[in-house]
Amino acid sequence: MQPRMWRGVVEEYREFLPFTDATPVITLREGGTPLLESRLGTPVGLRLLVKYEATNPTGSFKDRGMTVAVSKAAEARARGIICASTGNTAASAAAYAARAGLPCALIVPASGVALGKLVQGIACGATIIAVQAAFDRALDLVREAAPLLGLTLVNSVNPHRLAGQKTAAFEICDALGRAPQTLAIPVGNAGNITAYWAGFKEYRAAGRSKSLPRMVGVQAEGAAPLVQGHPVDEPRTVASAIRIGRPASWDGAMTAVRESGGTLLAVTDEEILAAQDQLAREGIFVEPASAASVAGVLKMGRARQLDGEVVCVLTGHGLKDPEVIQARANLPAPIPATLEAISERLSLG
Ligand code: F0G
Repeated sequence: MQPRMWRGVVEEYREFLPFTDATPVITLREGGTPLLESRLGTPVGLRLLVKYEATNPTGSFKDRGMTVAVSKAAEARARGIICASTGNTAASAAAYAARAGLPCALIVPASGVALGKLVQGIACGATIIAVQAAFDRALDLVREAAPLLGLTLVNSVNPHRLAGQKTAAFEICDALGRAPQTLAIPVGNAGNITAYWAGFKEYRAAGRSKSLPRMVGVQAEGAAPLVQGHPVDEPRTVASAIRIGRPASWDGAMTAVRESGGTLLAVTDEEILAAQDQLAREGIFVEPASAASVAGVLKMGRARQLDGEVVCVLTGHGLKDPEVIQARANLPAPIPATLEAISERLSLG
């Protein structure tokens, strides 16, 4: 048998990406993530599949876009890269910059970035700057700073990021042999929903899939500018990754929803945490922002607003945000290291 190793999204989908022979491929062999069946759809009459993006090299979907953005930055002989982030973009930028041997600056909100994400940046040698502001202001700042400092901006306002992220839509079509009926996705800065929609359309135009999905974007109730139709000044939610009040790809998200006949909805923090728990009870551990897509689908399912087959995008790993679990569950107190004590604890004795 021919040896077969997943090559990363650039080599797997090169014809759909802006690469030439002169572009170095900076990769950690991202993508190739599993599409898993979930039991949670059954009670509401849905076939629920989840695209588990947590198995990417830095534990989130950001790696798909970062491999393209950092490869293009290396091709352009950039001095370094910079981004603002609620955490996952930062972790991914730090890893791919390290891979390319480029300096990396991360501008993050001083409060609310999950510890697991910050330590990834530190470990990979990035310069981390915490600012006394929320994400939206941090993004404004890096958009101004990048050209002044001669650094390449790798937020999703960089089109190469979105080009890479659309490969997740390709993988879903390849796994199913067609596009799903419905695609549900958490929405923060709105780059990912924009990228997925572009991906589904491009794949159909290339004759690689025959249909298009209905796009369902899910926001957290305290950070739901797209649902409310206006920016939110002080976004609040337990899902820190999507604590965003002024999405940069606002128009892209609205276009995806309108063109696909889809919808946007908001879910409460309680619904998000309940969905996170339910997913974990079938072995799928995600961070709160990711669970928003499932919370939204279950809510629509209960209201009989959805049927058939739904793919939910699970954007990031639960290990990145241990505090959110720890806040709700005490770690067990140690017991004597004896068989008796263990039997007693398990009520087997
Ligand atoms: N889920 C997770 C885990 C995220 O980290 C993000 C965005 C999203 C969903 C929303 O994706 O912004 O394309 O709509 N995180 C960005 C960051 C903002 O800085 O890591 P989006």
